[in-house]
Amino acid sequence: MRDRVAVIGAGNVGATVAQRLVEWDTVDVALVDVVEGLAAGKALDLQEAGPIRGYDTRVVGGTDYRIIEGSRVVVITSGMARKPGMSRDDLVLANARVVGEVARAVATSAPSAVLVVVTNPLDAMTELALQATGWPRHRVVGMAGVLDAARFRTFIAAELGVSVQSVQSFVLGGHGDTMVPVAALTTVGGVPIARLLAPDRLAALIQRTRDGGAEVIRLLTTGSAYYAPSAAAAQMVEAIMLDRRMILPAAARLQGEYGLEGVVMGVPVKLGAEGIVEVVEVELTREERAAFERSAEAVREVMRVMAG
Ligand code: NAI
Ligand code: 2OP
Repeated sequence: MRDRVAVIGAGNVGATVAQRLVEWDTVDVALVDVVEGLAAGKALDLQEAGPIRGYDTRVVGGTDYRIIEGSRVVVITSGMARKPGMSRDDLVLANARVVGEVARAVATSAPSAVLVVVTNPLDAMTELALQATGWPRHRVVGMAGVLDAARFRTFIAAELGVSVQSVQSFVLGGHGDTMVPVAALTTVGGVPIARLLAPDRLAALIQRTRDGGAEVIRLLTTGSAYYAPSAAAAQMVEAIMLDRRMILPAAARLQGEYGLEGVVMGVPVKLGAEGIVEVVEVELTREERAAFERSAEAVREVMRVMAG
């Protein structure tokens, strides 16, 4: 019997996270959705791909939370995705109801799990999941920074004609228009990006990163991104399951770090078996710190909307 990972929401992001985990062939996967037949159908379809793709992962799907019992990690992707013209924050009220209900069900059925929240608006939904489960902050983490950094890394690699693997970056702050790509932590082959790109080009790539989610939505017109988001969530699951202690940008509730208290924000975290092993504090420039604080204010504003 392998360890189990559960994914809640069998839509675009959830089903693709499940596919990545199933193909990893290391953990068993449980997929839950409120829509009758959706998770069961996708789980069966994924199971039947096993002989071709060469995996023995057991994958189950359904509407009943009993199938997630014993899960070590639960990924929450349930809720609406943004439509064209809609901000992430417009989603807040609809998705607060969904995430609150789902997090309480997870706390009952998988009380020892680490929760990876994906549903938007990400930072507020991560805080809501913390409140709904009552779990300590290290067991509830939000996925956004890995995705935002991946977008930034993609654009930089294309601009400089280098492998994406040679580009490292941390994008911090809230997952929204106020996100903070940190130039000092953005390197190409170890060289700081500011030495390789003219300021106007760097500013343009930062802006494209901030607009990265909206750019995909504009093209798709019927939903939002899911290949890169699912890759990001799966990387976080793998870091937890293998106790890798990878340092990744992710949303965590701050308890004095970066001078902030009680707000969920994207920061570098060390991710291992118990979830957030440590929030890593890095030096920010005066401008980055100001941008980080503006981002915290934007997250607090969403929390106020949520509180009504
Ligand atoms: P989708 O609409 O394809 O899938 C959402 C699924 O959630 C649907 O299958 C729906 O039936 C299910 N669902 C709704 N209420 C539920 C409930 N109470 N219990 C269980 N399942 C429920 O949407 P998609 O594209 O998969 O996106 C999911 C969420 O992830 C959205 O909020 C989206 O904005 C967010 N997202 C966040 C990213 C991030 O960087 N944090 C990146 C990409 C998406
Ligand atoms: C994204 O950044 C919609 O938050 C989602 O693609």
